[in-house]
Amino acid sequence: MKGSIHMSENKGTYYISTPIYYPSSNLHIGHTYCTVMADAMARFKRLQGYDVMFLTGTDEHGQKIQTLADKKGVTPQQYVDEVVAGIRDLWKTMEISYDDFIRTTEDRHVKRVQELFMRMYRKGDIYKGQYEGWYCTPCESFWTEAQLNDGRCPDCGRPVTKAKEEAYFFRMSKYADALLKIFRENPEFLEPETRRNEMISFVEQGLEDLCISRSTFDWGIPVPVDEKHVIYVWLDALSNYITALGWPDDPEKYERYWPADCHLVGKEIVRFHSLIWPAMLMSADLPLPKQIRGHGWLLLGGEKVSKSKAAKGRDVIDPVVLIDRYGIDALKYFLLREYTFGQDGMFTNEVMLRRLNYDLANDLGNLVSRTVSMIEKYNGGIVPDLTEAGKCVPGEDGINYDEQLEEIAVGAAARVEKQMNEFRFNLALEEIWVLVRRANKYIDETMPWDLAKHETQKARLDNVLHNLAEAIRIISILIHPYMHTTSEAIRKQMGLWYADVTWEDAQVFEMMCGEQVKKGKAIFPRLDIEKELGELYALGAKAAAEKGDTDIPLELKDEIEYDDFDKLDLRVGTIIEAEKHPKADKLLVFQVKMGTEKRQIISGVSEYFKPEDCVGKKVVVVANLKPRKLRGLESKGMILFADHDVDGKTRYEFVTTVAEDGNSVE
Ligand code: ME8
Repeated sequence: MKGSIHMSENKGTYYISTPIYYPSSNLHIGHTYCTVMADAMARFKRLQGYDVMFLTGTDEHGQKIQTLADKKGVTPQQYVDEVVAGIRDLWKTMEISYDDFIRTTEDRHVKRVQELFMRMYRKGDIYKGQYEGWYCTPCESFWTEAQLNDGRCPDCGRPVTKAKEEAYFFRMSKYADALLKIFRENPEFLEPETRRNEMISFVEQGLEDLCISRSTFDWGIPVPVDEKHVIYVWLDALSNYITALGWPDDPEKYERYWPADCHLVGKEIVRFHSLIWPAMLMSADLPLPKQIRGHGWLLLGGEKVSKSKAAKGRDVIDPVVLIDRYGIDALKYFLLREYTFGQDGMFTNEVMLRRLNYDLANDLGNLVSRTVSMIEKYNGGIVPDLTEAGKCVPGEDGINYDEQLEEIAVGAAARVEKQMNEFRFNLALEEIWVLVRRANKYIDETMPWDLAKHETQKARLDNVLHNLAEAIRIISILIHPYMHTTSEAIRKQMGLWYADVTWEDAQVFEMMCGEQVKKGKAIFPRLDIEKELGELYALGAKAAAEKGDTDIPLELKDEIEYDDFDKLDLRVGTIIEAEKHPKADKLLVFQVKMGTEKRQIISGVSEYFKPEDCVGKKVVVVANLKPRKLRGLESKGMILFADHDVDGKTRYEFVTTVAEDGNSVE
């Protein structure tokens, strides 16, 4: 390679955090969304030369965890230890590059939370009183009667419980004006704007003092001045952003990284981060974080496979399963590329698979494999140098393809950076894909296979191959923060395995010369979407059944009126004979006795039941169904059978309750 490897200069510090997750159960794809964004940002800033602190962790105290542990018959500590191990494994699997993982049950956290509490206490901002109101345990939040929505938690819509207990309060109300001033004078403090407006109106409606201790359970950090109370879990949790930095007793990291550049959080916890946390910090006379950014939710829901299959499957939302099948980079790319920061977006397996096929297998995968193949075929696998003789001579269209490609390639880094500064991960990736697609188009325009036919075009062919190699080298740097494994795989194929990845090198075009390329495995294999969906939905349905999750809405036909139902004449009958249909493998022929009548009914159930097992069974019969011939034999009515299908496809049930033969069961 020509030129030197530029080392990134130190640009200062950058501190980003994710929320600390409740270890109440395993994390799903929605939780990974925030961590994947924070990871991409941390890697991006590191690549740019920042000294990065990326913090994540777990929020382990509170009523919710205590209740779950009680139900399971283990101690809260045992409960969280197990779930936290799973969360750490997940981040390891996903190669999340956090610098520290804080658990709120760690000593380093506990003692510092107590210290923060004491600072607020000494300031005169904490007093003892009586709490009377509502509590949402899943959200761990207090609500007044007026704030409830139809008697439910206004955040999550779940039922709330009445709480009445002696408690310590924090004088939040005192900080209302200061908070409004921050929002108005520093609009960048809370992004996006919609969330800021929500918070402004929340404060304008009047801020109540906040209950910050609980005494009806004990799974929490003791209030230092009154051991009958534990500190409210949100006060405990929010403090993690400074306790992890060693504040106040081991302040080296605190002094280096605080105030944080960005607390990345989901939209429903913006209120805690942009009101309670700043008020706590103001009370303790500590600087405020520079920014809170609220992201939207992935809406998780089943999506139809296809009309023809007429089965509503269940999307797989377990990140481990998805990573196992498609790889970490595919999942990360999808999460970052598909959704617009701040907005909600629907997660379905189908949207994901289509995105992977189009962008990764087709666009990126093809570009790399075509280029490497051509360099191998036309130049013995060596990246050629540029020559004057091989420069592009614009054709009739007047376009200089080489210049266009170079311009887009060297300008991409700045465009990506601009989008990243606004947390627009999807648009940052789109900027990179503009280059990927332009490079693919460049192949079609320059037609290297045609140039290779003429010895006189060798210099031109060399330049074309060189330019493609340059474009791919730049792409490999640009994608590094989002997909470092893929970036490294590409660099290996391009013979760049020895070179450091630096952001500056993405802004220079002429660096490659003499590298030995080597075709490797396809970067992203093309997926058979229908096949994948079928398998995923089966896995999803199985997982749901294993969890005992029976509350999955089924895809049903249009609702019917009672009058429609009333047209059915349902009778209980007993199967007295059963045999295979002589002309159709799938059909069984039954003789069913209903009261005085014996009749023949044919059903397509041979794959579920053996004829001999059916004899003697009581079944419900749709007795007034118009008779029809099935492969030459008459069938009068329909038997309602059952099988144990977990995805609700089967609509017929065995009736095991005994009723008088022939009696109506309505
Ligand atoms: O709130 N889509 O923890 P948590 C996007 N312990 N994000 C989602 C999501 C989805 N479907 N489901 C959950 C807590 N999240 C507190 C935080 S911080 C000091 C304490 C996000 O485990 C959610 O928006 O309930 C939130 O930001 C994060 O997961 C943690 O949720």
